[in-house]
Amino acid sequence: MKEKLEQIKQRAMEEIQAVDGMDKLNEIRVAFLGKKGELTKVLKSMKDVPPEERPKVGQFVNETRTIIEEALEKEKKLLAAKIREEKMKREVIDVTLPATRKMMGHRHPNQIALEDLERVFVGMGYEVVEGPEVEYDKYNFELLNIPANHPAKDEQDTFYITKDILLRTQTSPVQARIMETGRMPIRVIAPGRVFRSDEVDATHSPSFHQVEGLVVDKGITFADLKGTLQQFATEFFGPETKVKFRPHHFPFTEPSAEVDITCFKCGGKGCRMCKGSGWIEILGCGMVHPKVLRDCGIDPEVYSGFAFGIGLERVALLKYEIDDMRLLYENDVRFLNQF
Ligand code: DAH
Repeated sequence: MKEKLEQIKQRAMEEIQAVDGMDKLNEIRVAFLGKKGELTKVLKSMKDVPPEERPKVGQFVNETRTIIEEALEKEKKLLAAKIREEKMKREVIDVTLPATRKMMGHRHPNQIALEDLERVFVGMGYEVVEGPEVEYDKYNFELLNIPANHPAKDEQDTFYITKDILLRTQTSPVQARIMETGRMPIRVIAPGRVFRSDEVDATHSPSFHQVEGLVVDKGITFADLKGTLQQFATEFFGPETKVKFRPHHFPFTEPSAEVDITCFKCGGKGCRMCKGSGWIEILGCGMVHPKVLRDCGIDPEVYSGFAFGIGLERVALLKYEIDDMRLLYENDVRFLNQF
């Protein structure tokens, strides 16, 4: 028995010496000291030992166990120290290396353009308001004098949620919402996201932004509209900028116009930017249609107003001379960092 225990001890020591990792060390612990381990086996065979010798053998088993345990513990500490040392070696920090730079975000060109634009209109006493992106057909079309079968509805093909609820195709529904409240006078701009089922290309996106403008009061005339938009163009695009009103048609304004500004790149001489014409179209506008006023609860005999709709991406692209709208949505930092 004693010999057997001596052998076990010997083997355990050899194996512990040869150990190369914590896992292996655990395996050895289980193999020798575990419930089904070598020492337990010896204890189980105690019944074959003559009773008078049992205390001695028992003592010897315990001594062997202690020796193996101590050896395991010692090896464990050695291993841990070795692992730690290797880790320290691997994690050496070279304080002379350049630091990794933190990337700082900043405002998107769309947002910069919007804030510039808002500053101009707030400076003229306008309030900035918002309307819902998911809108009723009633506000997006009906109250804006675009009835069920109007061709303008096709032009603004959009995403329907139900027959009566849709993603707004324009910010103009905010006009109707503001007029409906009955608070006079009205002097607001309403920026926001709009949606149309357009294919993506350099000048189209299924989701873009507009800034709506609306003024309603007693005695508002087309002259006020012209003066306002001239002021906007001057402040936003530069002091030399001239505006030109071209007759146009929108269902919710009468008369209606599209507004061009002199090309700020060439000053009107004609260049690549303005495709040689010297003029660049920037927005649609007009005097609020009497029917629209009436349908929204305002007496057109007492009040009159003007409205305009600016494509935010359009002015941002122009202002920063970006030639592809898609760049605004790709969120490539190499592009965005330039503004
Ligand atoms: N909502 C028009 C569009 O999306 C733009 C517009 C034109 C708005 C004339 C207006 C306006 O307020 O008076 O094409």
